[in-house]
Amino acid sequence: MGFDKLIKTKFNINLFTTPSHSQRFFIFKKFRHFYKYDISETDTHNPEEMLVEAEKFAASVYGTKQTKFLTNGSTSGVLASVLSVVSGCCDNILLWSNAHKSHLNAVKLAGANPIFYNVPNDDKFGVPRGVNPEDLEPYFKNFKIKAVIITSPSYEGYVSDVKAIKELCNKYDTFLIVDEAHGALYPFSDKLPESAIKYADFVVQSLHKTAGGLNPTALLHVNCDINLKLDIISTTSPSYPLLLTIEKNIRYLNSSRGKKEISKLINNIIELRESLPEYDFGGDDITKILIKKEGLSGFDLSEKLYSFNIEDEKTNDISTLLLTGIGTKKEKLDKLKLALKRI
Ligand SMILES: Cc1ncc(COP(=O)(O)O)c(C=O)c1O
Repeated sequence: MGFDKLIKTKFNINLFTTPSHSQRFFIFKKFRHFYKYDISETDTHNPEEMLVEAEKFAASVYGTKQTKFLTNGSTSGVLASVLSVVSGCCDNILLWSNAHKSHLNAVKLAGANPIFYNVPNDDKFGVPRGVNPEDLEPYFKNFKIKAVIITSPSYEGYVSDVKAIKELCNKYDTFLIVDEAHGALYPFSDKLPESAIKYADFVVQSLHKTAGGLNPTALLHVNCDINLKLDIISTTSPSYPLLLTIEKNIRYLNSSRGKKEISKLINNIIELRESLPEYDFGGDDITKILIKKEGLSGFDLSEKLYSFNIEDEKTNDISTLLLTGIGTKKEKLDKLKLALKRI
């Protein structure tokens, strides 16, 4: 029985349980359907089993040892990964000095010792590149590192050589945690960079960023044998509507329909790029449109795009970043193309 069928069995029962709305009292009527799916753990017949089944299915899709559904973003996956590997305050965790704040928060929460590395810049676009294994090795030589956290892809779409970094980690007996928050589509297309799930011990992916998921749905993939400390930071009342969308999201991405949609997105962006020879495109991930034009600063480009009713994700002095993903239709890309041609 799937998640949604289990929830439907509750519709005809008079529930004297939490949540008190009992799927029938809609304070916010526009969210009626959300309330209908909002059951609580105590409402359901063996819900844990249901969740275990759905997560096992997910692990079989991704080829991981475990895949956990997260209803509090990649943030919670990073926290859980670090908490799981740290065994004491002397443990050193190697992290990027400019990483998402969840990385340092995780290290602080675990009571471990942060050691920071830097990554090189792509000066042409004014953004950070991926992590070089050779830049990490000196830290491994000088310190006993319990785990290293890398961000791949970067926000701007630069991918690190995760395979080589994992080999380095194996040499020094170190866990590898990959923040693939912006790469949730990678396992479903060979036209995108390779996902870290094949190599790393822990990988977090935000379904809500690029893969069509609701905020803040995400996944934590685990490939090592470890006592996973996800429960320490998780509510005992997970959102079933969100869990249900995670299950449906994975099934969609793994279906021929989902894969076709990703392929269409990629082809549309290839077409967009080819039709704009006056622009330069950066990064390793085509779905993250990192763009610049000779003679125009990133801020100027951003402002001009805004005058065409187009808002970018992030801008610097040199380049502008426009994010796409499941849900970015050709019509939207055509509007972008038209605006860029007119600028
Ligand atoms: C690189 C990176 N890692 C992690 C996160 C956290 O992801 P979430 O919002 O799913 O918690 C973000 C969010 O912006 C991010 O950009």
